[in-house]
Amino acid sequence: MHILHVVGARPNFMKAAPVVRALGTWENVRQTLVHTGQHYDKNLSDVFFSQLNMPEPDVNLEVGSGSHAVQTAEVMKRFEPVVLERKPDAVLVYGDVNSTIAAALVCSKLLIRVAHVEAGLRSFDRTMPEEINRIVTDRLADMLFTPSEDGDINLQREGIPADKIYRVGNVMIDSLIRLLPVAMQCPGNSLPERYALVTLHRPSNVDDSSRLQSILNSLLEVNEQLEVVFPVHPRTRQRIEQFGIDIEKLHLLAPLPYIEFLSLQRRAAVVITDSGGIQEETTYLGVPCLTLRSNTERPVTVSMGTNVLVGQDLGLLNSELARILEGKAKRGSIPPLWDGHAGERIAEALHT
Ligand code: UD1
Repeated sequence: MHILHVVGARPNFMKAAPVVRALGTWENVRQTLVHTGQHYDKNLSDVFFSQLNMPEPDVNLEVGSGSHAVQTAEVMKRFEPVVLERKPDAVLVYGDVNSTIAAALVCSKLLIRVAHVEAGLRSFDRTMPEEINRIVTDRLADMLFTPSEDGDINLQREGIPADKIYRVGNVMIDSLIRLLPVAMQCPGNSLPERYALVTLHRPSNVDDSSRLQSILNSLLEVNEQLEVVFPVHPRTRQRIEQFGIDIEKLHLLAPLPYIEFLSLQRRAAVVITDSGGIQEETTYLGVPCLTLRSNTERPVTVSMGTNVLVGQDLGLLNSELARILEGKAKRGSIPPLWDGHAGERIAEALHT
């Protein structure tokens, strides 16, 4: 059996790694890894491959940045000949980025089996480009691997037949469990004793100057009580420069490699973020998470985990932060099947 994996952006790499590893233990499986090049910076891409122990991509489509239409179209144009030449039996796509939907569209029209890892997640907010990518990819996929029960429920509500849905658990947590012991060896000596770890990159938060300014003002206030450590995403850095906002008082860092970032999350007093995956990682780690969004496609992190949605309500951010500083943070538990074996369950399902 020939399996072709498509990855493109930072959050894909930690999801693909456990599946590539699990399939590598099956004798009759040949694997091809295609990187679309959606993320091309060394610190958003290459370093993840080495830390996650992923093989070098067999093909890099080098699509780079562009508008959603341009980026999606470039992946489609450059990916189609690769699929025609390599003739995989199944193509695995991950998450909700533009590379995911582009590859799924190409394969479904070539009648090649598409399997979607991290299927069924819904924020019910169609202003998010990722939500469009999720809905369309799930509609096209032949096998849908979900991380939690809400994924199955969403898919069934959309009319996806139950026999296409496989609840396998959370592949990203597989990578976390494997590399947490390594992350705990990272020296933390350049860090403050107690700190809030911040990430910010959603277009809805960073592309609007007044919204970005008010979030950063709140972070400057947070910084008065608890030092803010902030690895800045390239999109966000561009906007901060473009809007001329001064945040030099914060502890700013370049985007971090996977292991260093995991170590920072594990040691943080609180994580403040608008990322999807970080809501899940903090839930697993039991670290309080305040999410700067009014919805989440990962509701289990709120119902079971440590996540609180503070949305645009920066007053709520402050009151939740006060609770955390008083030692009254929300306590959570780890959702079922977030156990380090999701990749193996996917490999098994692909085989049967
Ligand atoms: C993408 C994903 C998002 C994911 C995020 C993680 C989509 C629709 N969005 O958003 O779901 O959470 O990745 O990082 O696919 N840039 C660089 N270097 C790079 C890549 C990008 O400097 O290696 C800059 C580009 O100039 C670009 C901006 O960052 O304008 C945004 O990159 P893009 O890939 O368009 O989307 P992300 O915001 O990273």
